[in-house]
Amino acid sequence: MSEDAKVHPVKPDVAARAWVDRERYQAMYQQSVEAPEDFWAEQAQSLDWFKAPSVIRSTDFGPENVDVRWFEDGQLNVAHNCLDRHLEERGDQVAIIWEGDDPSESQSITYRELHARVSQFANGLKELGVGRGDVVTLYMPMIPEAAMAMLACTRIGAVHSVVFGGFSPDALAGRIADSSSRIVITADESLRGGKRVPLKENVDDALERDGTDCVDHVLVVRRTGGDVHWGSRDLWFHELVDRQSSDCPAEAMGAEDPLFILYTSGSTGTPKGLKHTTGGYLLYAAMTHRYVFDYHDGDIYWCTADVGWVTGHSYIVYGPLANGATTLMFEGVPSYPTHGRMGEIVDKHQVNILYTAPTAVRALMAHGDGVMDSSSRDSLRLLGSVGEPINPEAWEWFHRVIGKGNCPLVDTWWQTETGGIMIAPLPGATDLKPGSATLPFFGVQPALVDNEGNILEGATEGNLVILDSWPGQARSIWGNHERYVQTYFSTYAGMYFTGDGCRRDEDGYYWITGRVDDVLNVSGHRMGTAEIESSLVAHEAVAEAAVVGYPHDIKGQGIYIYVTLNDGIEPSDELKKTLTQWVRKDIGPIASPDVIQWAPGLPKTRSGKIMRRILRKIAANETDGLGDTSTLADPTVVDDLIEHRANR
Ligand code: PRX
Repeated sequence: MSEDAKVHPVKPDVAARAWVDRERYQAMYQQSVEAPEDFWAEQAQSLDWFKAPSVIRSTDFGPENVDVRWFEDGQLNVAHNCLDRHLEERGDQVAIIWEGDDPSESQSITYRELHARVSQFANGLKELGVGRGDVVTLYMPMIPEAAMAMLACTRIGAVHSVVFGGFSPDALAGRIADSSSRIVITADESLRGGKRVPLKENVDDALERDGTDCVDHVLVVRRTGGDVHWGSRDLWFHELVDRQSSDCPAEAMGAEDPLFILYTSGSTGTPKGLKHTTGGYLLYAAMTHRYVFDYHDGDIYWCTADVGWVTGHSYIVYGPLANGATTLMFEGVPSYPTHGRMGEIVDKHQVNILYTAPTAVRALMAHGDGVMDSSSRDSLRLLGSVGEPINPEAWEWFHRVIGKGNCPLVDTWWQTETGGIMIAPLPGATDLKPGSATLPFFGVQPALVDNEGNILEGATEGNLVILDSWPGQARSIWGNHERYVQTYFSTYAGMYFTGDGCRRDEDGYYWITGRVDDVLNVSGHRMGTAEIESSLVAHEAVAEAAVVGYPHDIKGQGIYIYVTLNDGIEPSDELKKTLTQWVRKDIGPIASPDVIQWAPGLPKTRSGKIMRRILRKIAANETDGLGDTSTLADPTVVDDLIEHRANR
C-alpha cells in the first residue's frame, strides 16, 4: 500500500462537535479566495476594534513593489483583545497554567489576575520611558512573566523582540543591535531539565559587544535566586512592577503598527528580523487556533514550544488568549525528570489538545511504547504537529500511542514569516493522511512551481509558493525592506516563495518535502548553513568550512560539517571538540555540530562555488548517485571525502 493510500477519515463525533465540517470548509474556503474582502471583513468582526476597519486589504506582491496591508484604517489593541474583553465573561477562568521544570511546581493564573499583572508591568515599562514604537528585547525562561512581558509591550504599543533563551550572548547582541532595543527583559537564570542557564550573565556579556549601547535598562525577573552581577542599568522586575497601579489603559494602535519582530535564519547573511503587525496577525493567529485545533470553551490546550519561536508567539500566547482559552506553558523539557513527563503533564492538568514537534515524538518513540505507561492521557481529544515534516511512522506512533488511537492529528505547515498556520487539516472537515499537512487554510492559495516559476497543475512536485496575501503575513524585514523583497518575492516574480519543496497528490493534498535552500531544520530549529560556516571560519585553525544537513533519526536533520584547516594545523579529536564548543558558544547549543569531517579540499565548480549537492550526498552516505561531477574544478577531492567519510 502506498503511503498516500493510508487515510484516517474524519470521525462523525469529531465532525459533529467541530466548528467546521467538510461542506462548511469548502464553502468558506471558496469564499475566502473568491471574495476575500467580504470574507475577511466578516472574520475581522471576531476581534474587538476601537475603530472598525473600512479598508480590508491593499496587498501587492510585486514585482515593482511589495506592499502588504490589512485593515489599515482600523484601530485596536492586542492586550485588550487577549485580556480586557474577556474579563466580564471569564475573568475567573484560568488563562495560563504554568508547569515548572520541577514537577512539584505549578501555578494557575486567571484572566483577571493576568490582566492586572500585565497592566502593572505595562505601567512599569512606561516609568522607564518605554512607549509606542520602542523595541523591547525579551530573553526569558518559559515563565508566566515572558507572556506578561509580551502583552505589556502590546498594551502600550511597544514592539517586542523575543530572543530564544538558548541563544548565545553573541547571537543576542546581534539581535539587540539590529533592532535598536532600549530595554532588555530577562531573568537571573532559567531552569531546564534541572540545569540552570545564566541568562542575566549572558545579557551582561551581550551588552559588552558593539552596537548594544542603545540599551538603557535591563529588567531582571528573579526565577532561581542565583547570584547575578549587578550594574547601574539593572533593575529587579519585582521592585519596579509590584508597586505599579493595575490600571493602564490600552493604547489604540493602528492595524498596521508593528507588533513584534522575530529573528529567523535564511540561506544567506545574518538572521532576519521579520516584522509582524497588529490587526492581521492577531486575527490570523486567533482564527487558525480556533479552527485548526477546533478550540471550544473549557478546553485545556498545551503547545510545547518555547515563546522564543513563532509557534510560542502565535499558539501559546496570542491565538489562545485572543480566543479566551486556557493555555499551558511548560518551563522544562519533555524528558525530565523522566521520559514520561509529557504524558504526566497531560494527566495532571487534564490537557485536551496537545501541540508538539515531530522531534519530541521521535525521541519518545525511541524508548518504545512503554515510555507512556506512567500516564493515561484519557483527557486528550486532539493532537498537533509542527516544525518539520513528520514521517508517517512517527505520525502513526503519535496517533496510536500518545493519542491512544482516539485523537485526530493535525500536521500544521507554516513559518515564522507566515505568522500562523497555512496548510493543515481541520479536524471536522479533512480526512487525514499520515505525513501530509493536507489542505490550505482559509485565504491561503498555495501553488507548486518549477525552477523557472511556471505553475504546475495536478498531482506533481515542485517549489511551494503562495500566490496571494493572507492577514498573518510578515510585512517586512526590520530596517531592510529591500531584503524582504529580495528574499521572498524575487525568486518567482509576483509570488511569495516559501523556501520549501512540496508534493501534491491526486486529492490535492500537500506533502512538504523540506527546504530546497541552504536552511537546516534541526529538531524543528531553523538554522542557516551560512551562519554556522561564518562562525567556523572565524576560528584561527579553520581555512574553510561547508555545512550541510543529513538525515537524523531523532532530530530530523543533523549538522554535518566539512572543515579545511589552515596550513600547518594538525587535525585531531581535540580540535573537533574545540570547534564544537566554539560553535555552541558563538550561536548556541542548538547549533552543535553532529559530525565534523576534515576536508583537505572542498568540491568546487571552476568558478569557485561549493557544490553542496555533493556534500549532502556524501553526508547522507548516498555516494552511488552523486550525479554530474563534470563541472568540478578538481574531481579527486570527492574521492577523498568519500574515502574518509566520518563514521557515525
Ligand atoms: O521547512 C518548513 C518547516 O519549518 C520551516 C519554518 O521554520 P520556522 O520559521 O522556524 O517555523 C517553524 C514553526 C512554524 C518551514 O519552511 N516546517 C514547519 N512546519 C512544518 C514544516 N515542514 C513540514 N511540515 C510541517 N508541518
